[in-house]
Amino acid sequence: MENILKAEHVSREFKIGDGSIVHALTDIDLEVNEGELVCLRGRSGSGKTTLINILGALDRPDGGNVYFCGEDIVKLSDPKRDKLRRERLSFVFQSVALISTMTALENVEFSLRLAGHPIQGRTKRAKECLARVGLGKRMYHRPGELSGGEQQRVAIARAVANKPKIIFADEPTAALDSNTGTAVLALFRELVHDDGITVVMTTHDEAMMQLADVVYSLEDGEIVDTVRNDIPL
Ligand SMILES: Nc1ncnc2c1ncn2[C@@H]1O[C@H](COP(=O)(O)OP(=O)(O)OP(=O)(O)O)[C@@H](O)[C@H]1O
Ligand SMILES: [Mg+2]
Repeated sequence: MENILKAEHVSREFKIGDGSIVHALTDIDLEVNEGELVCLRGRSGSGKTTLINILGALDRPDGGNVYFCGEDIVKLSDPKRDKLRRERLSFVFQSVALISTMTALENVEFSLRLAGHPIQGRTKRAKECLARVGLGKRMYHRPGELSGGEQQRVAIARAVANKPKIIFADEPTAALDSNTGTAVLALFRELVHDDGITVVMTTHDEAMMQLADVVYSLEDGEIVDTVRNDIPL
């Protein structure tokens, strides 16, 4: 399996108001192979969001390197990082962040437009992706006319639409009840398995950890455990 993302000696600190420093991440090493579902776990404050933001080029570390397809993205200029994020990465957040005045279909089409997808084929691709997440019959609903789990599935359709190399998801099920959350997780697992997408997500959810190929456990900004599961195909 090809190594698509690699962090070496990544550290991140934050200065806070009283002048003290929080060491949010210390000497993080990790690897993500293409076509894997990788999970970051750990209690609140352990550094999961800080790490996923650095891996997804939303934030820069204070030390260390992050390689995406062999290229060190820490050293890239801001415009190059913006382009990388727009064209090759996708994000799913805990708060779904759909545009409330647009239908599900328009939300997915709009993000394809931002990613530079040509106008021809945008609608077709958006419809395919919504069908893929089981929302073929809800395409013309606005977010307010969808359940929480359905909204999160629109967000996943949007993340998948531009065929990203990696989807980063920071607690995508935290706002959902446990059944809906499990369905959303199963959808990620299916996308990884059927479409060869790579997913990096953070979670508190035990069920997710069993569905992941690799689980990294964080404690106080350090990786304290790495478990590799044998997922039956
Ligand atoms: N912008 C910031 N300024 C100062 N400290 C920060 C900042 N962002 C995060 N931290 C601190 O860094 C540590 C890690 O935070 P992070 O948000 O990565 O944790 P987390 O594991 O995602 O937690 P949760 O499960 O609650 O989302 C925490 O101690 C937090 O207080
Ligand atoms: Mg967090």
